[in-house]
Amino acid sequence: MSRLIIPTTPFTDQKPGTSGLRKRVGMFCQPHYLENFVQAIFAAVPALQGNTLVLGGDGRFHNEVALQTILRMAAANGVARVIVARHGLLSTPAASHLIRLHGAAGGIILSASHNPGGPDGDFGIKFNAANGGPAPEALTDAMYRAACALHEYAISDAADIDLSQLGSHHIESTQIEVVDPVADYATLMQQLFDFDAIRDWLRSGHRVRLDALHAVGGPYAVHLFEDLLGAPLGSVRNAAPQPDFAGGHPDPNPASCPEMIAQMLRDDAPDFAAAFDGDADRNMVLGRHCVVTPSDSLAILAANARLLPQFRDGLPGVARSMPTSQAVDAVARTEGFDWYETPTGWKYFGNLLDAGRIALCGEESYGTGAAHVREKDGIWAALAWLNLLAAKRQSVADIVTAHWARFGRHAYSRHDYEGLSLEHGDAMLARLRGQIATLPGQQLGDLRVQAADDFAYTDPMDGSVSQRQGVRVLFEGGARAVFRLSGTGTEGATLRVYLERYLADPAQHGLATQQALAPLVAVAGELAGIAAISGRTAADVVT
Ligand code: G1P
Ligand code: ZN
Repeated sequence: MSRLIIPTTPFTDQKPGTSGLRKRVGMFCQPHYLENFVQAIFAAVPALQGNTLVLGGDGRFHNEVALQTILRMAAANGVARVIVARHGLLSTPAASHLIRLHGAAGGIILSASHNPGGPDGDFGIKFNAANGGPAPEALTDAMYRAACALHEYAISDAADIDLSQLGSHHIESTQIEVVDPVADYATLMQQLFDFDAIRDWLRSGHRVRLDALHAVGGPYAVHLFEDLLGAPLGSVRNAAPQPDFAGGHPDPNPASCPEMIAQMLRDDAPDFAAAFDGDADRNMVLGRHCVVTPSDSLAILAANARLLPQFRDGLPGVARSMPTSQAVDAVARTEGFDWYETPTGWKYFGNLLDAGRIALCGEESYGTGAAHVREKDGIWAALAWLNLLAAKRQSVADIVTAHWARFGRHAYSRHDYEGLSLEHGDAMLARLRGQIATLPGQQLGDLRVQAADDFAYTDPMDGSVSQRQGVRVLFEGGARAVFRLSGTGTEGATLRVYLERYLADPAQHGLATQQALAPLVAVAGELAGIAAISGRTAADVVT
């Protein structure tokens, strides 16, 4: 075994986006591409030297090759100990937990989340800091700077480590521990929820359907829902992780899971269903005849927090990303706890969680989580809902209806325009920004603009400022249209249009979501000039 120094030249496109560096697999397979970025991580995080690193991925194509490379580089860069998941299969929330459990200096997670996998799919790499959360902007900026200035990287020429068995190995003087990631995660979940109550609820004839979408959540879900909670074998579908997610799109939302939605709208549907994404941090929650929007899910968990052992003492506060609906704000106002509005991306919740200002947070993009880790957590969300069902002994649909009756309904939808040219995407945002000053007071159809801005956020803990986080147009009566460009795509631009309308009157709560939002869709399309600039007349994905 020896430590080699390999000369290289920088790739100038290694700027991490909303959630790490994501590119097509082909990009990551070219010589030095992965190595350069990993070296940039070691350069930006000197604390890794002599310390512990957690390592794993969502099992997508190229996962195992990349893991072996990173193990050799960790050894050559003086990491004392690497904790790597068996088969390299580590969900994002479980990685966050392992970092915190072992006091590691950080973790590297190989995932492109819900993006498709396989040789023609996407690959990604993200770094989580010592608090278990996604690297904050200052750190990802430092990685990018390091990547742009790189002229060599260090790597050991050691042989591959057997990741299929638990055990301990060495590369150079670095200890490599292959661990079972499911066991520690399951122990944590048992500390947060009332497993006896959920077991009773299941035993009393309730049925559940969980779907891992052929991704990394499978082994976690089988162990928790089937082995520990006693749901019948087979309750977890598509539980074996596959490198290409069986050709599917591992994104738990109504657009990607039409069969699941159709089943849940039938009279003989299970009582509860949930699906998870590629790295098991996202969740979609469904009941019989009921699709729960992520924004509502967050608000409902907040309103019922004291029923969950994790939140027995109440919530200090909650946070939502700016585009997420204002449903949780209404709960916070009524219940008297603080709420925060942050930019898109889980990294902005980290400081608030670390400081104990919030204990629960979420995003409209099927992400819900809490202070037990520093990532959103799909399986946790499903367990939280099961615990709620067991405690309330009501159906999902009844819980949602009662919540709306108490707080009003925030009808909500996201319209994505995918595969736009970068020029068209930029032109739409520029057009919106150009109107901000003149919009307030304007009457647009039935809607009157109250305020408009380009969202900026000052972190209350460290004072860091994040600007240009999306254009918000607020209308009288609580309706909103929010616009931003995706930061996770690997090709062209995606415009996300977030639409929200507040329905106070229970007589309107039964309205179909798209029908309730139709006037807003038209106004938003005009404001951004979607048809005028791109010729598109309808969104590609509606969730
Ligand atoms: C998307 C979601 C965002 C989420 C991120 C990572 O980012 O919109 O809420 O945090 O994926 O899962 P975007 O592509 O919009 O930048
Ligand atoms: Zn994900």
